[in-house]
Amino acid sequence: MDLTHEEREMLSGRDGYAVRKSMEILVALGEIYGAKRLVEVASVQIAGVSYDNLGDAGLAFLNEMARDGRVRVFTTLNPAGMDLLDWKSLGIDEAFARKQTMVIEAFERMGVRTTCTCTPYFVGNEPRLGEHVSWSESSAVCYANSILGAKTNREGGPSALAAALTGRTPEYGYHLDAERQPVVTIEVNAALHDIVDFGALGNVIGKKIGNKVAFIRGIERATTDELKSFCASIATYGGTALFHMEGSTPEQVRAPEPTLRISGQEIEEAKAEMGGEAEVDFVAIGCPHCSLKELQDIAALLKGRKVTKETWIAVARPVKEEARRSGVLEIIEASGARCAADTCFVVAPIRGRFTCMATNSAKAVFYARSKNQFKTVYVPLEQLIDIATS
Ligand code: F3S
Repeated sequence: MDLTHEEREMLSGRDGYAVRKSMEILVALGEIYGAKRLVEVASVQIAGVSYDNLGDAGLAFLNEMARDGRVRVFTTLNPAGMDLLDWKSLGIDEAFARKQTMVIEAFERMGVRTTCTCTPYFVGNEPRLGEHVSWSESSAVCYANSILGAKTNREGGPSALAAALTGRTPEYGYHLDAERQPVVTIEVNAALHDIVDFGALGNVIGKKIGNKVAFIRGIERATTDELKSFCASIATYGGTALFHMEGSTPEQVRAPEPTLRISGQEIEEAKAEMGGEAEVDFVAIGCPHCSLKELQDIAALLKGRKVTKETWIAVARPVKEEARRSGVLEIIEASGARCAADTCFVVAPIRGRFTCMATNSAKAVFYARSKNQFKTVYVPLEQLIDIATS
């Protein structure tokens, strides 16, 4: 790779252990993928934050990097394994909480903003069109590339941390305009009404095209929350990190051949496959983390009702604080539902606590089944609240 003088100095150890180690990671990655150079990044988002995923080996790596590593760009974190303030009420045990806190403290020592969320674009980590970034949460990567038009590969936790500590990432994959061009057109011949429909569409397209870049047309309108749900689903079921959607995404591209058509029936089949009627003991909302608008909708449905099932609503802490200021949080909490900040029901250690989870997230369905072995029910928000309160 063609490194600048500054980058060669960083690689030689001039700036200490963590920068040298980071440069070694980035150069090795760049050489594997044929990058010609490194590019500067505007921001970083690091996944691999839950102690449930990291374990002691991951914690040791972070502590080692935190000895002298300090981030050079704005950096936020993916959800941790618990609400950092209110972990007890979510049933998290003390030993886990201690280790999770050590993980967060290591990131803090490195200067990372320890807002733990998969929707960094709701809390100030919002790159602009054409900016290079280094993000790692799959749904956020897809959102950054597709909806915001920023440029990022799907980084692992260590390579994202290396980018944060050096301000650089190797230029290959989605950092190159040639790799961002669509190779298949998807024609959607179905009316989509809510985030459950968009999640199902992501499931259908993701399974059909895998990680190919698609140009999608036929969707009349899509809200931010619907696009967020779609990004999470297509990234989960297809490994997709970038798509273009007529009318919703900013990059100007041409519709290529071949064209695949998606029918309403396929979407209905995907919804049915993700889970219908069942005895639910856990209701999970907020995958990806809820927007303030979603919290408002939830509060309107929960007002004056009490939940009878354990109900978690996952959210970024700044969004929760905004909900508190506007009175929305009070209504949600009065119902007995828990607004879980900093975490989510996929990365929290809840395996064995529940048997059947109801959700409106296609991504949560996938991980509830594969990671936690829960049965699933996949329904829109109104029905979820009926289940939670019945
Ligand atoms: Fe976010 Fe957890 Fe879902 S990280 S996208 S809420 S699995």
